[in-house]
Amino acid sequence: MNLNWKFWVPTCVHVGRKVVTRKSGIFQGLGRRVFIVTGRRSSKENGSLDDLMDALQEQGLRFIIFDEVEENPSFTTVERAAQICREFGADLVVGLGGGSPMDAAKAVAILTLNPQLSAEDLYDSSNYTTALPVVAIPTTAGTGSEVTQYSVLTNHEGQKGGFSSVLAFPKHAMLDPRYTLKMSRDLTLSTSVDALSHAFEGLLANTSTPLSDTLARDAIDKIKSALPKVLESPDDIQLRFELLLASTEAGMVIAQTGTTLVHAMGYPLTTFKGLKHGMANAILMVPVFEHVAKTEPERVRKALASFKDVEELHRFFDEVGVHDVHLSVSEKEAREWVQRVTKSRHIRKTPGFFTEADLVRIYLSLETTR
Ligand SMILES: [Fe+2]
Repeated sequence: MNLNWKFWVPTCVHVGRKVVTRKSGIFQGLGRRVFIVTGRRSSKENGSLDDLMDALQEQGLRFIIFDEVEENPSFTTVERAAQICREFGADLVVGLGGGSPMDAAKAVAILTLNPQLSAEDLYDSSNYTTALPVVAIPTTAGTGSEVTQYSVLTNHEGQKGGFSSVLAFPKHAMLDPRYTLKMSRDLTLSTSVDALSHAFEGLLANTSTPLSDTLARDAIDKIKSALPKVLESPDDIQLRFELLLASTEAGMVIAQTGTTLVHAMGYPLTTFKGLKHGMANAILMVPVFEHVAKTEPERVRKALASFKDVEELHRFFDEVGVHDVHLSVSEKEAREWVQRVTKSRHIRKTPGFFTEADLVRIYLSLETTR
């Protein structure tokens, strides 16, 4: 057991139906001019943007909406948003949506107060010491970004990578499960298995801590129980609430532990193969567990939590539809991706020993068209 550790989530988490309007005073306490960062459609369709605008109007706050955040937000998008945010004179940024708008909001909050920086400069946190406060309102249940210091952006070459800064921790997170009711089956699945991978990876990581392990186990139990049911009953608010809570718990886990090789290997599958982030993690989870188990079976047993063994996890993924994805990976692609993966910090957090050949073999094992 790791005897030297800390647990730190400086985000105040508010939970419940209509929490955004019930707790509108929170916005008033943080600023007068609010920059809302969101995606193009979902926050308009799930009622969250209306609730947020009502809350801000009730408090007499001025706001503008930047609704151009794409899936896997680009450097260009966050730089443009920061320019608009600065010109508006915002003193508060609200990230509303899934992981992409929340991650973009964090980048915008830093870039706005540091006009000399480009998005690339965010990756060295010694470049900046100030940021606007961020309030995060998740409308999916998976990323956990509402309680983390991470922001994953896509660079000019189309590669995904995360930066980390304590300034990126949201001041407040507001969790209302009603916003997640409208998620499609595919989005429900991909976001839930992203949260599940955060919990597994937090337990597996060399950086795991006793307190994050407790949250991770609880998140795994919740997702294991609620996900198969919610795929059958998408309108069940209680199940949606369980998944949202699990996602936030798993976010708190990776805020302490970081993610592992699974995430590092998953990024190219999203960038180059168009796989949803959560699905990329999920299809890698079993082969990575199997490889670590060759040298450190105890670590894998611990990380599986309430799953009896890797086979049970495999069956669970089969049942919910993770293995329905179609993927083709060539040896040339796998070798290129591995060059990047071996340089990532994730590999140091992953127990077991992975050679480049092991990583190539894992990528090739995902091929579903052979
Ligand atoms: Fe993730």
